[in-house]
Amino acid sequence: MKPKVFITRAIPENGIEMLREHFEVEVWPEEREIPREVLLEKVRDVDALVTMLSERIDAEVFDNAPRLRIVANYAVGYDNIDIKEATRRGIYVTNTPDVLTDATADFAWTLLLATARRLIEADSFTRSGEWKRRGVAWHPRWFLGYDVYGKTIGIVGFGRIGQAVARRARGFGMRILYNSRTRKPEAEKELNAEFKSLNELLRESDFVVLAVPLTKETYHMIGERELKLMKNTAILVNIARGKVVDTKALIKALKEGWIAGAGLDVYKEEPYYNEELFSLKNVVLAPHIGSATYGAREGMAELVARNLITFKNGEVPPTLVNK
Ligand code: DGY
Repeated sequence: MKPKVFITRAIPENGIEMLREHFEVEVWPEEREIPREVLLEKVRDVDALVTMLSERIDAEVFDNAPRLRIVANYAVGYDNIDIKEATRRGIYVTNTPDVLTDATADFAWTLLLATARRLIEADSFTRSGEWKRRGVAWHPRWFLGYDVYGKTIGIVGFGRIGQAVARRARGFGMRILYNSRTRKPEAEKELNAEFKSLNELLRESDFVVLAVPLTKETYHMIGERELKLMKNTAILVNIARGKVVDTKALIKALKEGWIAGAGLDVYKEEPYYNEELFSLKNVVLAPHIGSATYGAREGMAELVARNLITFKNGEVPPTLVNK
């Protein structure tokens, strides 16, 4: 008999097909998130579980899943999973690094450029017919934004994604600053990046990109004090996790002009709506789509499947988190 895996959302078919050869597969077919009580029911007889970043996987889930041996998170971040509890129970947890690095770094740059050059405002102006209504073909003072080429970028979190953001910054002739828990001498050399304290980085950067995982240490690491250190012409880009930033402080900063703008892909809770934040013109907003390319999502599905199949074959999964 094949072991059983439950997948909490319809991931790309390539991963599901790979899994079908080795597992009895059940997929939650709906677009909406699986209700907690249904998840708790579904895990009762599963050996493996594929989860999304929006599901809290904790002791209660494990209590309901006596056969569960492995959780494969369909994300590189795994702050949704109680790793300590999983480890204590001997349950393996895997994630999906590498395969989404370039897509996510590209998206950081999408937000950075769209915010700096006011793309969304300009799109609305054009699309709504306002341009035509005004009857002015071109104006030297319309939609002025911030220069990017040759400016300074500060990257907070210099893991795979942070470094990929820096690699792109080289093409923009930028000075590259970074902050992370430990220094990365090889990356410093390859990318000509300078290690800075968080305070120095915030003071000196024209663009600050957040690429840290959410941990106890990074929770609200950007609050009122930090936003006040930034230049009033600077732009903040968050592709990490919403809780890394204190939203209240960010709204104040954007309204009162402590910083020039923000590009956000992640929020303190998701899905998110905040009229005060969303009514501001100097923010560009996306619904957590950093890794949303065909290639990245298929790569994530394949890696999830490889992790589970490797585990089933009695070997260590390639991207095990709780070694
Ligand atoms: C992740 O993988 O952690 C991203 O936030 C979503 O792909």
